[in-house]
Amino acid sequence: MMNRILILNPKGGCGKTTISTNLASYFACQGVTTALLDYDPQGSSMRWARQRPKNLPSVYAVNASEKYNTSVTRSWYLRVPPDTEQVIIDAPAGVTTARLQEHLRNVNTVLIPVMPSAIDVHAVARFIQELLLQGKVKQRGIKVGIIANRVKSKSVAYKSLCRFLSTIKLPFIASLRDSQFYVAAAEHGIGVHEIKGKNVDQDKENWKALYEWINTPEELYKTEVGY
Ligand SMILES: Nc1ncnc2c1ncn2[C@@H]1O[C@H](COP(=O)(O)OP(=O)(O)O)[C@@H](O)[C@H]1O
Ligand SMILES: [Mg+2]
Repeated sequence: MMNRILILNPKGGCGKTTISTNLASYFACQGVTTALLDYDPQGSSMRWARQRPKNLPSVYAVNASEKYNTSVTRSWYLRVPPDTEQVIIDAPAGVTTARLQEHLRNVNTVLIPVMPSAIDVHAVARFIQELLLQGKVKQRGIKVGIIANRVKSKSVAYKSLCRFLSTIKLPFIASLRDSQFYVAAAEHGIGVHEIKGKNVDQDKENWKALYEWINTPEELYKTEVGY
């Protein structure tokens, strides 16, 4: 069975590619056969995959944006190797309601990165409404989780993001701090978990809750958290 995780937020620059590439390399390092689908015409995930050192567990990258507007892309799953266990889908910015349906097809989990700023919180609140109403994620049994990204833990903006997330019925699963290790990892085709040194320990720690949540069976999640 292929498990598919979609990283989605119409806002550009919130961390979709960062989370996609870090997750893809994490699964690959766990011995899971992983494919990374880049739907963004900017191709940042593809660039990351090209930089990935050959001696590290491989991630099979697919440029899904190429023929995005043709019916060929609808059968993208035919383009990942048949033994693929985990698919990570890096969505583009500006996904419209019409496109949303297409992106949600066959997806098990949606991760929504959001940055702590008033503008981003406002935009994500609207997007979450759309995901629940038009995307019908609950009816489809799709797990949805929110990730705070580029967090400065003592900032007022982060506190107001946390406050907002406590008012909605979607799980707030992790906070990733603002860290240059993400920038370095992106350049070298790796994930922060593949960086050695004490200074990166905090970043590795930030991911633990996320891995755990992803690996939690859906039924348990539904009964414990609900929407
Ligand atoms: N937690 C973080 N700390 C520092 N820089 C980050 C972090 N997350 C993302 N970035 C940087 O912010 C920029 C935008 O992130 P990216 O993942 O490309 O967003 P998106 O794919 O949503 O457009 C990139 O340059 C990335 O390296
Ligand atoms: Mg991107």
